[in-house]
Amino acid sequence: MAERPYVIDEMISAKAIAARIEELCHDIRQEFASTDKLVVVGLLRGSFVFIADLVRELDVAVEVDFLEASSYGDTMESSREVRILKDLRGAIEGRDVLVVEDIVDTGFTLSHVIKLLNSRKPERLKTIALLDKPSRREVPVKADWIGFEIPDEFVVGYGIDFAQRNRNLPFIGKVRFTD
Ligand code: IMP
Repeated sequence: MAERPYVIDEMISAKAIAARIEELCHDIRQEFASTDKLVVVGLLRGSFVFIADLVRELDVAVEVDFLEASSYGDTMESSREVRILKDLRGAIEGRDVLVVEDIVDTGFTLSHVIKLLNSRKPERLKTIALLDKPSRREVPVKADWIGFEIPDEFVVGYGIDFAQRNRNLPFIGKVRFTD
């Protein structure tokens, strides 16, 4: 699969992403204005660029933790089983938690993570996804904040990979096979 030749067409520019993060942070800051116990939880690995920009733009006291859940292998098909490959380092009981996801696709990953983290009794649990592909949804879940709604395209860049490549592109692009 990864050997098929492809090109990447820009879909969302770095500038548009930065502008949208500024808007989102305006809302998120209001939501968490009164707390000093916010933990921002990034879902590895796709959210690592987004979370870095998000917490800097947010500019409030936060702790950052990471969780790795598997849903995709090195293919473009979603698997139904969600496994936790790396758990949080810290406890979240009684804390305010913001889960940061790169893309909500079928919804299996986010709904599994929400269930898991809610079982640990946080005070408040909110979710944000940079991208949402509502047409692909199999589990009814919606992030509280969404950067961009996109059509059913396979995208890369800004932390998001295709077979572990292209995470370092500064923009979001769609994969177009050329064979
Ligand atoms: P879900 O469980 O089907 O919602 O899948 C969520 C995960 O699948 C995301 O966190 C991504 O890691 C991966 N994913 C979904 N769509 C894409 C895509 O277009 N490009 C790369 N990874 C994707």
